Amino acid sequence: MGERWSPSSWRSKPILQAPVYKDQAALQDVEKRLSGFPPLVFAGEARNLKKSLAKVAKGEAFLLQGGDCAESFAEHGADNIRDFFRAFLQMAVVMTYAAGMPVVKVGRVAGQFAKPRSSDNETIDGVTLPSYRGDIINDIAFTPEAREPDPARQAMAYRQSAATLNLIRAFAYGGYANLDNAMKWMLGFVKDTPANDKYRHLSERIQEALDFMRACGINPEAHPELRTTEVYTSHEALLLGYEEALTRVDSTSGDWYATSGHMLWIGDRTRQPDHAHVEYFRGVQNPIAFKCGPSLDSDGLLKLLDALNPEDKAGRITLICRFGADKVEKHLPALIRAVEREGRTVVWSCDPMHGNTIKAASGYKTRPFDLVMGEIEHFFQIHEAEGTYAGGIHLEMTGKNVTECTGGRAAITDLDLSDRYHTHCDPRLNAEQALEVSFKVAEMLKRQRLSRGPMVREAAE
Ligand code: PEP
Ligand code: CO
Repeated sequence: MGERWSPSSWRSKPILQAPVYKDQAALQDVEKRLSGFPPLVFAGEARNLKKSLAKVAKGEAFLLQGGDCAESFAEHGADNIRDFFRAFLQMAVVMTYAAGMPVVKVGRVAGQFAKPRSSDNETIDGVTLPSYRGDIINDIAFTPEAREPDPARQAMAYRQSAATLNLIRAFAYGGYANLDNAMKWMLGFVKDTPANDKYRHLSERIQEALDFMRACGINPEAHPELRTTEVYTSHEALLLGYEEALTRVDSTSGDWYATSGHMLWIGDRTRQPDHAHVEYFRGVQNPIAFKCGPSLDSDGLLKLLDALNPEDKAGRITLICRFGADKVEKHLPALIRAVEREGRTVVWSCDPMHGNTIKAASGYKTRPFDLVMGEIEHFFQIHEAEGTYAGGIHLEMTGKNVTECTGGRAAITDLDLSDRYHTHCDPRLNAEQALEVSFKVAEMLKRQRLSRGPMVREAAE
């Protein structure tokens, strides 16, 4: 640390989870082409997100981050993007309305392609091949050709990210996100569920509030906050050659920004302070996050905060905690105390997915809904006990009616998992389960807001 940073300075550090490309010339060629492509996001947007996250750090807003574990080339289509977008909007509306909190929306989307793996190889029926590392690197099919890392995939991932982001921006600013449409965001397959009944009731009340405003002579159409919304993008910036190619100087500030997405995070397996990923992240000015799992102790956390946010800028760092429902009580309090003791500014977010993955008797990887909720509940309780602010949740979810996580009101069982198990990597909450989580979180948020006092109002004065 302290050494000169450049977008390529990570190359002289040790690195984990990096694919080995056989064709180095093809790799260099694609990286060179990517470095000439237009940025996917603009630095000013990343700065706006950082400002919103600074509000979250102060307890004045809440972070909702979610999306696929891994985006895939095969599932790239308008329906998928729309279903994700409206499930995500529904969740945000529930939390905003029921908890009276502004919600900062950050999708795991338009760039979430590269996956860290616990093993370099996978063995099926005695055949061992390299592990699938996400569509930006290789193919999920279990053949030697498919599993060979292919540099051309990076350009495909860039193009898919651009198209996905384009549709998301169109939905966000083109009228679809208008609060008047809140009722229409209900998804067909969740029509008769308790979560949807609750949502219908809530959207009726929003409609009444809008009608009341109109009757008072306030025209909601004249307020862009009601007609449009901001949805930011994020992904695990694992494939650093790709990230480097999309790292650009912002002409307005002269600072370096990652332009592959608004917010980037470092995964739990690649956050060693002297390794390549931390080196890359310390030089870009985007809001960033890293995963905090059971192997991270207080000293390790403070070292990372020193490396990645030496000036303690608010909104720069989000800590995505993913311990597991049965481990969060053991690990989280010490991290919170260290951050408080050192007076560091962070957003505390809860990822209740990655510490709660189990193998079902049927052989599928799954996550029981009760464990997911259990970790979120512990997370809120611990923050209440420590006098700190539970600032966000980070979910793997989809707008589709998949059967990947067990439980929830629909009581998906181990035997149901094979019905619609479509994920390319980890099991996701389906739209109904995600909505259920958001109603439960809204309750916890409301309690948190009441017990911490009227922060939103104070801030507005
Ligand atoms: C993920 O978010 O998909 C992931 C791999 O998480 P973690 O780094 O926390 O294991
Ligand atoms: Co995952």
